[in-house]
Amino acid sequence: MSTSIENPAAYKTWRDAKLAGYPASANDIRVTIADLAVPTEAERAAILDRCRRCGMAIYESAKPLSGDDARAELRRFAATFGLWDIEDHRSADSDGIVAIEVTDQSSKRGFIPYTNRPLNWHTDGYYNGPHEAIRAMILHCVRPASAGGENALLDPEIVYIRLRDQNPALAAAMTHPEAMTIPESVEEDGRTRPTSIGPVFAFDAGGKLTTRYTARARNVIWRDDDDTRAAVAFIDQLLAKEQEPLIIKYTLAAGEGLISNNVLHTRTGFENAAGAERLLLRGRYAKRITGT
Ligand SMILES: [Fe+2]
Repeated sequence: MSTSIENPAAYKTWRDAKLAGYPASANDIRVTIADLAVPTEAERAAILDRCRRCGMAIYESAKPLSGDDARAELRRFAATFGLWDIEDHRSADSDGIVAIEVTDQSSKRGFIPYTNRPLNWHTDGYYNGPHEAIRAMILHCVRPASAGGENALLDPEIVYIRLRDQNPALAAAMTHPEAMTIPESVEEDGRTRPTSIGPVFAFDAGGKLTTRYTARARNVIWRDDDDTRAAVAFIDQLLAKEQEPLIIKYTLAAGEGLISNNVLHTRTGFENAAGAERLLLRGRYAKRITGT
């Protein structure tokens, strides 16, 4: 996308190409990787093709990973896509990868990601200010739940398109620098995070979109403006009411993962089998996937 997206003709060209190229199903975004630590050029190209079309790909590692090897190989895999500047997160172990699991560990206690409860639509790090935005995320499944734990996934560019097609003023309201305020709170990394104020949609100098969104109703202050309220209600219809037909749903199996430019996502609640609890590994990055 170029910054000329403000121009209606340029917007239409970009919009039409985006919708025409968007994958129809989870199967269309799955790519098998023989060895996660050293993806081949063809495997990399297949991942990048999906990431350009819909901001994400689901990879399947042909060789199962476990224990410390999984973390190191996951970091190497991410690095081959330019994802190496992993965020400093207090829930992370020393390598920056966060284990997403049901836990009583003090740094994670009380936060929904570390329970078996459902997670509503969001982008990762939505509570960060614009200067510390999360632009890419990798989520690797070591062990799935015995039931549930399904993700719904959607490229935020689709939401921008639906809003702008509905009414350009609604899309513009979501790019306002004070559109969404997250009040100060103690976040999952244990730090008192200051109030963060920023847009939902931000286009960088190269015209690439960064999105900051949460569907949570509490601890979010939307700009006091009719277009903002209408935009929030419209997005809720698309996502929570699932009126958006391009939402992809998928439950990651062991050895599979999602690599993405921090797309919008949910997680359903899940059940753990005793002794084989759901375990996902997550890395989050300030830069988007190179070449997308
Ligand atoms: Fe998330």
